Amino acid sequence: MTQAQTWSQRFESALHPAIARFNASIGFDIKLIEYDLTGSQAHARMLGKCGIISPEEATQLVEGLEQIRQEYRSGQFTPGIDAEDVHFAVERRLTELVGDVGKKLHTARSRNDQVGTDTRLYLRDRIQGIRQRILAFQEVLLKLAERHVETPIPGYTHLQRAQPLSLAHHLLAYVEMAQRDWERLGEIYRRTNISPLGSGALAGTTFPIDRHYAAELLGFGGVYANSLDGVSDRDFAIEFACASSLILMHLSRLSEEVILWSSEEFSFVTLKDSCSTGSSIMPQKKNPDVPELVRGKAGRVFGHLHGLLVLMKGLPLAYNKDLQEDKEAIFDCVETTDACLEAMTILLEEGLEFRPERLAAAVAEDFSNATDVADYLAAKGVPFREAYNLVGKVVRASLAAGKLLKDLTLEEWQALHPQFEEDIYAAIAPERVISARNSYGGTGFERVREALAAARDRWEACKNSTP
Ligand code: ARG
Repeated sequence: MTQAQTWSQRFESALHPAIARFNASIGFDIKLIEYDLTGSQAHARMLGKCGIISPEEATQLVEGLEQIRQEYRSGQFTPGIDAEDVHFAVERRLTELVGDVGKKLHTARSRNDQVGTDTRLYLRDRIQGIRQRILAFQEVLLKLAERHVETPIPGYTHLQRAQPLSLAHHLLAYVEMAQRDWERLGEIYRRTNISPLGSGALAGTTFPIDRHYAAELLGFGGVYANSLDGVSDRDFAIEFACASSLILMHLSRLSEEVILWSSEEFSFVTLKDSCSTGSSIMPQKKNPDVPELVRGKAGRVFGHLHGLLVLMKGLPLAYNKDLQEDKEAIFDCVETTDACLEAMTILLEEGLEFRPERLAAAVAEDFSNATDVADYLAAKGVPFREAYNLVGKVVRASLAAGKLLKDLTLEEWQALHPQFEEDIYAAIAPERVISARNSYGGTGFERVREALAAARDRWEACKNSTP
């Protein structure tokens, strides 16, 4: 079959070879082949059920498509550029296999509703895979948090020491972000899982099809109500790129922290050999490649989100060939998100080790207990702002004297304010500073234990849920 004959007899000559290459999407949409086959099998069965083709013809088509699946899986079916796209490639092979009946497959269908169907089937599958990855990522965070409820870590604002935290509290913040990611993908799954099949090229079809039947065979949760919207909607892809971007943004923030923590200046974690690499010239180095790559890959996923929005904004209804450009963006968002979640999960599970002794030393050697001095006075009736100003002076004087707050004598404290008593030392010890923050959602150890148990229960429920 020549290129000219692929479409119709309207064409007199074949495509210019460079234009054929330019036009072709087979190089990337071959990824959709299993979904294309499944979608076509449902379409064929629907045609048979509705009497548009005979039951025997439907069976022949379904079996022929299954044979192509086997050929593809065993590496025998490798269509080239001359097939233009995966849809043409399959139809052509089907006709070779089952003869003229193969030419009936495309009755009451267009590649426009077909490609929309394939893309949705692909994406809904991959969304489920990514949601599993999110749960695995959360599981590792939960396990780490369980080990580190009482491990302190400096908490920062503006990357300046602020108040000490339970390390578990810090890790649980990422569990919460991942939870939103998981839920968001569940919503996107539901909007992705709508069938455009039967929208035809744009206006529906003259055949007495049953769109709901085909949709049901494919496990779709519903069908597009409007055929124009059915073939031209890519909201689900944009939403997915947005959800991927948020996941990568979260992973990138964690990456940035791991990179800082593993530096000599922080030394809060040690990187294990399995997840870091050396330098080709500086023999002493061990580089945090995994988090750096994740941080870098976030940029390209954000780029796809932007690319898809720009791709869509000028398109008149309904299908336009521009839409072929959605695929590589979607595939890359899927693959990058999946790979980054996997890599970060491995990194947390076996690629790094926290250094509790370093963390404890860090929180004992700073002024991150200054708020607690002010709170101490405020609890004794001194107005908070007044206490705050006083402690500011104490910090300045201590810095000048090269002392920490814990080094001040009781006489020095009492000279600052008569309300200070011996219990000031206990009030500013790091464990107390952490455990005292027992407000709901705070870092107090008791609260963190509760939050951890709640996050565990929620995780179990998510694990056993369906979207
Ligand atoms: N390869 C095309 C795509 O990915 C399939 C749909 C083509 N439809 C058309 N009318 N040219 O979008």
